[in-house]
Amino acid sequence: MSSLRVKRIGVLASGRGSNLAALLKADLTPAQIVCVLSDKAAAPALELARQAGVEVVQHLAPKPFAGDRTAYDASVTAALREAGVDFVCLAGYMRLVSPSFVADWRGRMINIHPSLLPSFKGLDAQAQAIAAGVKLAGCTVHYVSEEMDAGEIIAQAAIEVLPGDTALSLSERLLPVEHRLYVETVQKLVRSTATAQSS
Ligand code: GAR
Repeated sequence: MSSLRVKRIGVLASGRGSNLAALLKADLTPAQIVCVLSDKAAAPALELARQAGVEVVQHLAPKPFAGDRTAYDASVTAALREAGVDFVCLAGYMRLVSPSFVADWRGRMINIHPSLLPSFKGLDAQAQAIAAGVKLAGCTVHYVSEEMDAGEIIAQAAIEVLPGDTALSLSERLLPVEHRLYVETVQKLVRSTATAQSS
């Protein structure tokens, strides 16, 4: 971590972009979000980023890569590097990333997942939590590693599962908690790396 200095953040998002919106609204000084990329042309996240005046906002279509994840991810890395990105936040990025992409960004790429990992990896984490009957649910910010939703945990926040909760009601209550956790975690990371550099 000693060589890590976070100044220019890139965000990858596939959908609605509420976590991106929370990050865009937050004061991440001394870093800023300079690049938002999406694998989905219609992702509302792209419009959010444009409206916020992010320097580079781009849809990168996976289709021309015909299922070659490594090649697609290399194009994502190239776009991030072109934008001068030094740290990557996944925010509802629903693609499995390739090992070479993880290697490109090791220790410089984090994700937010809507469960208390290591429980309920993968899709529909809140529905998995309801089906399992757990009494506590939550979200996790973690480094991205080769194995899905399994990298080193950085921060977690828990909420109670209430009687009668559905996957939807749980997701809705969890979302603002995700936003807070992601913003606070990025702020801490950015500021701790800035301090480590200047001392
Ligand atoms: C969020 O709940 C995020 O935790 C989840 O997708 C949603 C994206 O919402 N991510 C994953 O499940 C990743 N495995 P958003 O587009 O409004 O930020």
